Amino acid sequence: MEIEFVAAAADMQPKTAVARIVFEGEAPDGPLAEALAASRFTAGKGQTLDLIAPSGIDAARLVLVGAGKREGFDALGAEHAAANAYNALKGTGLEILRLELPVADAQTAVRAGLGLRLAAYRFDKYRTKEPADKKPSILRAQIAAAEPEAALAAFPPFAALADAVSFTRDLVSEPANILYPVEFARRVKELESLGLDVEILGEPEMTKLGMGSLLGVGQGSVRESQLVVIRWTGAADKKAAPIAFVGKGVCFDSGGISIKPADGMEDMKWDMGGAGAVAGLMHVLAARKAKVNVVGVLGLVENMPDANAQRPGDVVTSMSGQTIEVINTDAEGRLVLADAIWYCQDRFKPKFIVDLATLTGAIITALGNDYAGLFSNNEELAANLLDASNKEGEPLWRMPLPEQYNKQIDSMIADVKNTGGRAGGSITAALFIQKFVNSVPWAHLDIASTAWKKPSSTPTIPDGATGFGVRLLNRLVQEKYEA
Ligand code: BES
Ligand code: MN
Ligand code: ZN
Repeated sequence: MEIEFVAAAADMQPKTAVARIVFEGEAPDGPLAEALAASRFTAGKGQTLDLIAPSGIDAARLVLVGAGKREGFDALGAEHAAANAYNALKGTGLEILRLELPVADAQTAVRAGLGLRLAAYRFDKYRTKEPADKKPSILRAQIAAAEPEAALAAFPPFAALADAVSFTRDLVSEPANILYPVEFARRVKELESLGLDVEILGEPEMTKLGMGSLLGVGQGSVRESQLVVIRWTGAADKKAAPIAFVGKGVCFDSGGISIKPADGMEDMKWDMGGAGAVAGLMHVLAARKAKVNVVGVLGLVENMPDANAQRPGDVVTSMSGQTIEVINTDAEGRLVLADAIWYCQDRFKPKFIVDLATLTGAIITALGNDYAGLFSNNEELAANLLDASNKEGEPLWRMPLPEQYNKQIDSMIADVKNTGGRAGGSITAALFIQKFVNSVPWAHLDIASTAWKKPSSTPTIPDGATGFGVRLLNRLVQEKYEA
């Protein structure tokens, strides 16, 4: 979708639909009063009123979009209102959306632009027979702004963010026969055109490094496992210690020999949502030339049952030297992260590490589908993440790391086992990961609850891949770590 910023009085082209954002208690009068009186529209958040050929208005179609009370209207409110406008008009057959905002400053206009871009995302590359009249018709948006030039000048970092979220959503949406570790790595390698440095380690290199934990997961797959290291060196001091992000990239999680039930197994194509978010984060940081040094590490594997697959009861040796008894081959994400995190801190000595992973079904049981779980050994990092999460509308909920639950993952024959039973499943998973973290500040985001939503509960997120994490981490980096 193309976004333009125009003056309020700019001429209207044919095939334009107007979306007017209105506040509760400030309903327009004049020719619209009669239509309003015949409806239940009160301009509450998310309400829309669609008027075809409204009398006295110079547009073929007018949609009123409620934005709630003026006092509570903020940047996210602008995004959501714009997204609601798009969603109400995308199937009308009209090609241009003219957005009229009740607060027309440049910041509100650009956030509305972001909302439109995010809402208009669609993964339709495999629909070969969709009739034209089923596709969204809106191709362009004209956002009316008090100072269109100022809005245009402020838009590039938000356009970069929308591009990056779309990149992540594409990765997460791809089926596993198309997006396997080598192909994922290849797509990330293409980001070098943005100025990123991308290194790809294959199985021989990982074997040399002693990554028995990660390699054990990929052992039953014909697809080669990959470790991808993405670097952005944007700080004035190129040698300054980086901040680091690590992503679980299980391109398909069948469960392995501890195989999952057939029902819903197709969802496990998106078990690489953590790695997808880290790749998207690096995309936006490079695109907006962030003034900070950052490393992204992706652990990419496919978890399959096979004659050569690892078995329940196997013991593997991780890069850290710790041995792991694999009780359940379906608790594979933590095995991937154990080596990816160890490698990251060992090689880069980062200021902190945040890992993202679609790690446990238990986090969905605990938090439902709107919150991801936040686990951290560091109060400042946790507070910064929660703050960024609030500002970007990607909710996190802090979870505990109780020392005493570690006994649930004691093994009879190895240093640790990879499952801790039903009680506190997302917590024991996080405690497992913590065993591979040194004294570095660390946070773990369990995004199994938020990486994919059907149905979505947010107007800027279409059903399916959400891109969760890209926005909040971009904000964290921007506000707290850029010089
Ligand atoms: N990828 C799954 C977790 C998951 C579940 C993600 C649902 C998204 C939606 C993970 O690898 C897994 O299988 N976890 C197991 C752990 C168990 C075997 C200890 C789980 O949550 O059941
Ligand atoms: Mn699994
Ligand atoms: Zn998994």
